[in-house]
Amino acid sequence: MKSIVILISGRGSNMEAIVERCAAEGWPARVAAVIANRADAEGLLFAAAHGIATVVVEHRAFVTRDAFDSALGAAIDAFAPDLVVLAGFMRILGEGFVRRYEGRLLNIHPSLLPLFPGLRTHQCAIDAGCKLAGATVHFVVPAVDHGPIVMQSVVPLLPGDDADTLAARVLVTEHEMYPRVVRWFVEGALHMQGGVVRHTGAEAQLWVDLQPGARTDWPPR
Ligand code: GRF
Repeated sequence: MKSIVILISGRGSNMEAIVERCAAEGWPARVAAVIANRADAEGLLFAAAHGIATVVVEHRAFVTRDAFDSALGAAIDAFAPDLVVLAGFMRILGEGFVRRYEGRLLNIHPSLLPLFPGLRTHQCAIDAGCKLAGATVHFVVPAVDHGPIVMQSVVPLLPGDDADTLAARVLVTEHEMYPRVVRWFVEGALHMQGGVVRHTGAEAQLWVDLQPGARTDWPPR
């Protein structure tokens, strides 16, 4: 049974999707803890209500990034996780932290990386005139919102979209994609070695949702 720790900063809808799929699909894993850097992260309520340990490591309580990273690492290690999942975790993690969890640290970012890392990603895609948008699950490396890509989802960017309508369309795909990638990892079908992703499962690493109601893996099966 693999142990998963999920880090959040707010709403936690991706965390919810992972917790729900883990239970519904009977993964060989359990979400051992949800850790937030803010006591008011809404997702903590869902986790507690589902009997999952919750921990708050307030970043504001630490003077330096290193001190915060150390406290966060200690909180994580108390649960001896096989996998650490960043799900809307809004703190930049230092190189030492990232190296410590290398190969077992995943992140989701709501753009087609390497386009538009960082904040305001949906507005950046709109401003650039993109016709496609999406989300990316990747292994974490020290550079923010970079790292070996595991899976991407693609949605249309429609005329009239604003950042909220686009974010909502992308989020639907995040909830399909992130649990799937986490399942691959806990099933032993996903590894990262030397910066290269190795996925030995049969499922596609691309999720395409270009027409409402016509969602499919790509290539279609
Ligand atoms: C998601 O769009 C995720 O891709 C990004 O932050 C958002 C978090 O949403 N990193 P939630 O907290 O999972 O609802």
